[in-house]
Amino acid sequence: TTLEGSAARREQPAADSVFVRACRRQPVAHTPVWFMRQAGRSLPEYRKVRAGISMLEACRRPDLVAEITLQPVRRHGVDAAILFSDIVVPVAAAGIDLDIEPGTGPVIAEPIRTERDLERLRPLTPPDVSFVDEAVRLLVGELGATPLIGFAGAPFTLASYLVEGGPSRTHGKTKAMMYGQPELWHALCARLAEITLEFLRVQVAAGVSAVQLFDSWAGALSEADYRRFVLPHSAQVLSGLAEAGVPRIHFGVGTAQLLTAMGEAGADVVGVDWRTPLDAATALVGPERAVQGNLDPCVLFAPWPVVEREVRRVLAEGRAAPGHVFNLGHGVLPETEPEVLTRVVELVHEASAR
Ligand code: CP3
Repeated sequence: TTLEGSAARREQPAADSVFVRACRRQPVAHTPVWFMRQAGRSLPEYRKVRAGISMLEACRRPDLVAEITLQPVRRHGVDAAILFSDIVVPVAAAGIDLDIEPGTGPVIAEPIRTERDLERLRPLTPPDVSFVDEAVRLLVGELGATPLIGFAGAPFTLASYLVEGGPSRTHGKTKAMMYGQPELWHALCARLAEITLEFLRVQVAAGVSAVQLFDSWAGALSEADYRRFVLPHSAQVLSGLAEAGVPRIHFGVGTAQLLTAMGEAGADVVGVDWRTPLDAATALVGPERAVQGNLDPCVLFAPWPVVEREVRRVLAEGRAAPGHVFNLGHGVLPETEPEVLTRVVELVHEASAR
């Protein structure tokens, strides 16, 4: 079905959109822009449709997923939509009892700490996530020429939630397993890579135009440990999608020391947080890959002249790259004024028009 999906996809206008072209380092009429977490609590229309519905339930209802995914496209005129879901959705579908608590994030009922625990993490089959297939198909029909980005969490970031049992500042238990029980660690990550790859294949077959692999917490590692304990598993996911023919974006936070390796893992586009200027990031990532980023999400709280100056700086630094997708350095914070995001989209389009 992946091959059928890619044949059908070549016929779609979204496959030749400004966003996909920038990911492929092809010439574009302007720099494309979208925002991580563009759907969510910054939008009153989101808070309205989510009232009384839990995050996981919302992710499992294709009609609601489609509506929430479309909201920022309608409001801001961004160049891409991102599927409304969460990185823990596939592990929940693969048998892990968990919840997503507002203000906290994913909470795992029984964390994974032993070889025995690993058995609770089954392989994922497409019927386990049929709601995602349905939501993507609905969205591709509605979006027309606007591309839809599919996504998944990368093995390290998923492992951190599963081993810690929830969000962690130090990733202490995760690293304890990595250093102390390397065989168990690699077995866990191999299983997560299979689940992630299957989850992304479902999205590609249903028609997404690109995928983003979120390794949000990989920045907690040195380059040597990343290469030894993490890269092979993320590469398994990214190389497994090579023949799908959609651009692959690889993103993490605090990854200045990892940008070269994250590109080598098999990405077409490397996502960069606000700590590394895009010209410096480009020097690390090389001419074979585009970059995505990297306005500090907190800049959006400043007066407009400051926002404008920072957007122009990011665009100028992005000109060093063979392809640039404008984004924030991490997700939109819930307190962000939606009007500022709309203005940023307009400014990026105007200031980058060629
Ligand atoms: O970017 C998008 O617009 C798509 C939607 C999306 C969500 N989560 C929706 C969400 C995406 C891409 C994610 C990925 C995700 N989830 C990541 C990787 C990206 C990143 O931020 O680094 C991570 C680490 C998670 C885990 C997670 N889920 C966290 C840390 C939280 C925040 C907890 C909170 O309430 O502050 C969530 C919950 C979550 N995921 C919300 C949304 C809209 C908020 C839940 C709600 O609205 O009730």
